[in-house]
Amino acid sequence: MPEYSISPTDEKFQLPGPDDYRKEFQRLKEVASEQRALGREIVLVMGLGFVGAVMAAVVADAQDEKGKPTKFVIGMQRPSTRSFWKIPLLQRGISPMSSEDPEVPLMINRCVNEKKTLTATYTYDALKLADVVVVDVQCDYLKESLGNVKDGRADMAALEESLEIIGQHITTETLVLIETTVAPGTTEQVGYPIIKKAFRKRGIDSDPLLAHSFERVMPGKNYVASIRDFWRVCSGVNEESTRRVVKFLNEVLNTEKFPLTVLDRPIESETAKIVENSFRATILAFLDEWSLFAERNGVDLIKVINAIKVRPTHDNIIFPGPGIGGYCLPKDGGLGLWAYHHVHGFEDDIFKITPLAIDINDTRALHVAHLTRDAFRNMGRPIASAEILVLGASYREDVGDTRYSGSELIVRRLTEMGAELRVHDPYILHWWEFEKQDDYPASSHSLKRFFRGQEKLNYLRIEQDLNKALDRADAVIFAVRHKHYLSLDPDEVVKNAGGPIAVIDCFGILDDERIKRYFELGCEVKGLGRGHVKRIKDQVRAKREQLLLDISMRGEKRDLSSSTGDLELLRNGCKLGVED
Ligand SMILES: NC(=O)c1ccc[n+]([C@@H]2O[C@H](COP(=O)([O-])OP(=O)(O)OC[C@H]3O[C@@H](n4cnc5c(N)ncnc54)[C@H](O)[C@@H]3O)[C@@H](O)[C@H]2O)c1
Repeated sequence: MPEYSISPTDEKFQLPGPDDYRKEFQRLKEVASEQRALGREIVLVMGLGFVGAVMAAVVADAQDEKGKPTKFVIGMQRPSTRSFWKIPLLQRGISPMSSEDPEVPLMINRCVNEKKTLTATYTYDALKLADVVVVDVQCDYLKESLGNVKDGRADMAALEESLEIIGQHITTETLVLIETTVAPGTTEQVGYPIIKKAFRKRGIDSDPLLAHSFERVMPGKNYVASIRDFWRVCSGVNEESTRRVVKFLNEVLNTEKFPLTVLDRPIESETAKIVENSFRATILAFLDEWSLFAERNGVDLIKVINAIKVRPTHDNIIFPGPGIGGYCLPKDGGLGLWAYHHVHGFEDDIFKITPLAIDINDTRALHVAHLTRDAFRNMGRPIASAEILVLGASYREDVGDTRYSGSELIVRRLTEMGAELRVHDPYILHWWEFEKQDDYPASSHSLKRFFRGQEKLNYLRIEQDLNKALDRADAVIFAVRHKHYLSLDPDEVVKNAGGPIAVIDCFGILDDERIKRYFELGCEVKGLGRGHVKRIKDQVRAKREQLLLDISMRGEKRDLSSSTGDLELLRNGCKLGVED
């Protein structure tokens, strides 16, 4: 039976059979020899994921001072049912990943269809043709429990398999550049021996040329620039590898403006990546306790942070939102801890801050469920069966990337508590973490396993129409700072919902005027780090009481027709009566 791979737009592609492999290699041999005749190096990018697909295009777009392309790139991807579709799409010049950066589709189309410097393939034989192999396959960190990163392990299977295959196919002159974020020590202590062993099996006496240079790519509207026009760190396992990696990166990246940092050994480059991301995870986690402090003591942490940021020495202080997602920050520190024990063989426990930061970040979103529960309690409503709308599924603003987003945990916890969840996100069509929760991101690794009653989330679909999403909602959770949510009018929101709702602000999205207006409309408002909402609520309540007093003092019905705000305030007044 033929097997198929289905693209996100539901196009069906048959997986290649044995005959196809032979023909495909023949095609690549011909194209590579034509390209060599044009003086171009052959670069193979292994792994056409978020990073590899765009890195392949950046390399294919590289040119010399005269504007002549210097590289021909073969993007290589496993022909699995899950990923094979990326190959035929890329061969047509279509980006296999959606991006908010308009340069991504333009560059891929240009390189495939105009410059003809980019193709894609599934056959490992393509490795035989490469002068440089760039490895962009994943290296995961698998957590066995929620909120305890120490209970986990690095999953290097894809990387180890890739390196073994590389060793079986490349020439002795091929430079292998690992861009994957790895456990520090991997290039020299795992990768180098794997390739060397494969060389020896092939009767090759020379040693592999191997280097590491990590990606700092940032999803969003500057995706391409974050690869091409950004500082890089690199290092080779020996002098020749270092010389080759420096030459390669100078040829494909904008190193004139963003100079390379060359470190002595790959473990230093690998550690730089892990420390960089652990530092970021730590400064984000640091504010979690102050966020709680703010909520319990009438402090608006957003204003506090803005006040601190004025100091240039503190301008990278950053509000954490409902958890810290993305592919890298939740896992990279874990790779470091794991390497210390399992690559370098130490038994003691030197890491305190890095795991604590990750654990705090991994569970911060659960507090959003507490706030939602408390808001319902204040409104005298049950959370069970409540219709709750989450605004934003991505892990950060204005990108369509849901990996490890705080919103996933919010949905899971509130579902467990009996609520009915709906989601709106203008950047996302499918939230695979739910639609395919039994095998995404990998079978048995879904966060589903940490919560009960998750089966119905298989049917959770992203609503693209905000008004429809709001219709008869009991609560709205502002989870992501997408630009679409920053200036939503409270009157419109409440009108579309059909009455007063619970409003939870996870990211400092609501200004004080909006918070006040939600209270006036009879809503309950809560927010991460936003303790001052209680003060605003008291002011609204005091105003209502004053209005009532005025009326009773005059002993007559006051004409409120000139002040609709006052009228609503009186109508909704009873809903402000319940204490926190
Ligand atoms: N996504 C980011 O924002 C980001 C940022 C900086 C660094 N990184 C790092 O870059 C690396 C890659 O990340 P990603 O987001 O592109 O991952 P990804 O999961 O999107 O892509 C990896 C790709 O490699 C393919 N692959 C796996 N084994 C293969 C094999 N043997 N042969 C060919 N292809 C194979 C997979 O099918 C997949 O398409 C990771 O180490 C990650 O930590 C990612």
